[in-house]
Amino acid sequence: MTNNQGNEPRLLDVSPETIDAAASAIKNGGLVAFPTETVYGLGADATSDDAVAKIFEAKSRPTFNPLIVHVKDAGQAALLVEFTPTAQKLAQKFWPGPLTMVLKRSASSPLSLLVSAGLDTVAVRVPNHIIAQALLERSGVPLAAPSANKSGTVSSTAGMHVASQFRNGVEIIIDGGSCPVGIESTIIDLSGATPVILRPGAITKEEIEAEIGSVSFAGGDEIKAPGMMKSHYAPSIPLRMNVTPEGRNKGEAFLTFGPDAPRRAALNLSKAGDLREAAANLFTMIRALDQPGIRGIAVMPIPDTGLGHAINDRLMRAAAPRDDDTSGFSCSGSFETKMQNFVKLEGKN
Ligand code: TXA
Ligand code: MG
Repeated sequence: MTNNQGNEPRLLDVSPETIDAAASAIKNGGLVAFPTETVYGLGADATSDDAVAKIFEAKSRPTFNPLIVHVKDAGQAALLVEFTPTAQKLAQKFWPGPLTMVLKRSASSPLSLLVSAGLDTVAVRVPNHIIAQALLERSGVPLAAPSANKSGTVSSTAGMHVASQFRNGVEIIIDGGSCPVGIESTIIDLSGATPVILRPGAITKEEIEAEIGSVSFAGGDEIKAPGMMKSHYAPSIPLRMNVTPEGRNKGEAFLTFGPDAPRRAALNLSKAGDLREAAANLFTMIRALDQPGIRGIAVMPIPDTGLGHAINDRLMRAAAPRDDDTSGFSCSGSFETKMQNFVKLEGKN
């Protein structure tokens, strides 16, 4: 796997060779920053948990915010999410362009679970930028890409902005000059009963309403990050954090971390003790263990450094006392069966 960890990103001018190099970096699980019409994106293969984990690591995000998945057209989006008639109408009018739609993840979606931070919905958009389009075309995969800036800083609208923020972890920055729109896309949630604008952006409420009728705002200019809602991250069975091998209760599945973990544990987030690998496995493994017959999930202590912050943040939400029975972890049949078999296998070693 090519991985530029520790190396400075290469800031490259646009050329067919640059696009080729960027596409192979993406296909090999690496990170590439690229311009879109709104702001620069920090892109990775959206079907790879490991590649997506690198984004969170590079951005130093304290939590796993769900990411926008960039696709080349509505046809590719329909392979990943349930593309409703309303979504079709908006796509026809605004795609390619700065409108992101939150839609239900389809049962057969090949997308990483980490890309939407364990949610059952996915944010998708088709960028209207020749470089973004070329990268999507050449890499052949959907691109998970948040804005290419460190967490808590403003979005980058020029290649140099990206280069000044990322010292390592990013292989290539494609310098495509400044972004024509300069502010992030409008995000509309179409996964509920009525459409809700989660983030105002380049496309206005009025423009959207002209196509699909009345829509509402989620409120303020603050993004309503679903990651902040406890219930979205809760499995249906209780979860306990910081459990040592001795502290485990009967009937609980033990989700471990590191080389010193008991070998009879249900699943190990990372036998090598690698936090990025653990982040990549987190949602998949919690889902796999959230099944009838298991009383609860006990999780071994995870170091609270680097990506460990985000992992512990999510575990804390999953472990928080619940006053309702809503759960964001719903498993599709085939996925669940596959993972149950996996759990059985792992339990044997
Ligand atoms: O213009 C843009 O949208 C840029 C370019 C690169 O496309 N991207 C961007 O990504 O601004 P980011 O990660 O900085 O902001 C995306 C926001 C997240 O903060 C998250 O709240 C929201 O999109 N989001 C992503 N997936 C979501 C989901 N499934 N449900 C609700 N909100 C979601
Ligand atoms: Mg951002």
